[in-house]
Amino acid sequence: MCGIVGYIGTKEAYPILISGLRRLEYRGYDSAGVAILKDGEITTHKCKGKVSSLEAMIAAQGGNPEGQVGIGHTRWATHGPPNDVNAHPHASDDGQMVMIHNGIIENYGSLRQELSKRGHVFKSDTDTEVLIHLIDDIRKNADVTIFEAVRIALNEVIGAYAIVVMDRNTPDQLIAAKKGSPLVVGIGKDKDYFIASDATPIVEHTKNVVYLDDEEIAIIDARDGFKLMNIKNQEKTPYVQELELKLEALEKGGFEHFMLKEIYEQPRSILDSMRGRLRADKGRVELGGIRDYIQRFVHAKRIIILGCGTSWHAGLVGEYLFEDLARIPVEVEYASEFRYRNPVIFEDDVVIAISQSGETADTLAAIELAKSKGATIIGICNVIGSSIPRATHAGSYTHAGPEIGVASTKAFTAQVTVLTLMALYVAREKGSITESRFHRLLIELDAIPGKVEKVLEKNDQIKFIADHYKSVPNALYLGRGYNFPVALEGALKLKEISYIHAEGYPAAEMKHGPIALIDEEMPVFFVAPRGGAYEKIVSNIQEVKARKGKIIAIVTEGEEQVRSMADHVIEIPDTDECLMPLLTVIPLQLLSYHVAVMRGCNVDQPRNLAKSVTVE
Ligand code: F6R
Repeated sequence: MCGIVGYIGTKEAYPILISGLRRLEYRGYDSAGVAILKDGEITTHKCKGKVSSLEAMIAAQGGNPEGQVGIGHTRWATHGPPNDVNAHPHASDDGQMVMIHNGIIENYGSLRQELSKRGHVFKSDTDTEVLIHLIDDIRKNADVTIFEAVRIALNEVIGAYAIVVMDRNTPDQLIAAKKGSPLVVGIGKDKDYFIASDATPIVEHTKNVVYLDDEEIAIIDARDGFKLMNIKNQEKTPYVQELELKLEALEKGGFEHFMLKEIYEQPRSILDSMRGRLRADKGRVELGGIRDYIQRFVHAKRIIILGCGTSWHAGLVGEYLFEDLARIPVEVEYASEFRYRNPVIFEDDVVIAISQSGETADTLAAIELAKSKGATIIGICNVIGSSIPRATHAGSYTHAGPEIGVASTKAFTAQVTVLTLMALYVAREKGSITESRFHRLLIELDAIPGKVEKVLEKNDQIKFIADHYKSVPNALYLGRGYNFPVALEGALKLKEISYIHAEGYPAAEMKHGPIALIDEEMPVFFVAPRGGAYEKIVSNIQEVKARKGKIIAIVTEGEEQVRSMADHVIEIPDTDECLMPLLTVIPLQLLSYHVAVMRGCNVDQPRNLAKSVTVE
């Protein structure tokens, strides 16, 4: 949430900051701003709206500001509504220092009161402005360096932050620090330094990066280079890593939207998530990242799966997989509820935390809680080097590549793929699966990328169906067994990008309430491939039909029974029941995409949302 970018070096800062903000806009897009330092003067431009509005405003005011040091920000509002004043950067009273911030300063109220008493005047409603005033106050009263003022101030704040501070009295330095919100420093050639809230704006300039740890402060000096300290004033050794991220992965590659590109990438991202792990020819599954912990799984009396949103839906599929294949009881928890519930956690519990971004604040806090009770924590994350993989004991990356569209698509199928591999690996080690089923599933899983390609070929038909239902106010999504989480995910996709109210339910639960909603206006999306619950779901379809609901069914190729009842059917290739979510979710992703485009919605940046939820 909120994008941070900073630059100090030998080049003009403004073009670097603007292109960085464009790359970061998926993190938050309600306002944007930049500040550039030149000849001891700071020029700040900020406004409500997208990065393009900021660029237009700057162009209208006389063009690119000059200077080789600067900071930029794209905001997702927490304290105070999106407007020009609340946009970052925020400045000290005398305008000598400016700061950008991601996170929440929880004790900002008491700090603001205290600083007001000392004569500070605040222009905005933000917690960020309080922090820069605090730094300024310390700097002036204690007569210390900018680094020291930042360090002392950060010892006084409670909450999460990633900040970059620029001071006109120290024009060769930027000070960057983080706790709970990510921050990465890119080290270019010729003393060029790039700072950002994730690596996406950095990769086009350098591959060498340092991910800051909590409570670390980077002093980035155009002459003296990069020095790492912590808030206890101890010097730290920076660990420089090489980014694996490729620039093409951050481009739309000819697609109209990132979301569509990412939907189409799924044959590839599923394959990449299985690469080196699934050996159908050798009859083997192995996840190197959890090899040392496999006996913990084997002996676990319980698995707890934690996640939020789409990752929580993947976790539900994981519950079916682990119980079905590995015969281990599973609880799937919203991380946000788990962390505040005083949950019972045993030392022999294995906790699987699922997160695309690896930065979700609630998931991170839930992990820390479970870890403090002695449980083993396993991560399934997509962003390499992000906070969650660093907080877990072990884990397996999903290798879906960067997901830029705010609505999660390829991350979901990659998460389900890794959960499937994990459940198979554990089941094999535990001896809870027969040889023949194990081998059959390996062969089926191996064939999934090809079958996803086949589902994607249905795009035109799905677009046609989307056109029929693009104006409905409500929709129901029903599924059973492995496809119940898919129904939830289908409903979430529709509501978040097209703003149509949608609910997902286990199909049999319909009779206990939602059936009252059904009339001739209500589209009901049934996820009804062949499998254990097929006959039951056919009965549920009949119940909707009898009440004149519109039926759109996802069925297995060649199926006739549902076809005779449904208004529309979308056929998908057959596979084992436990792998079905990898296929059934694809038409629902495409359907939501087309409905949203037809309704004129901003598919990649839906209102009120941000890609990585780093606040509670
Ligand atoms: C929905 C979506 C969100 C995320 C959720 C968790 O399309 O993207 O529901 O799934 O915010 O995010 P991660 O997986 O990054 O922890």
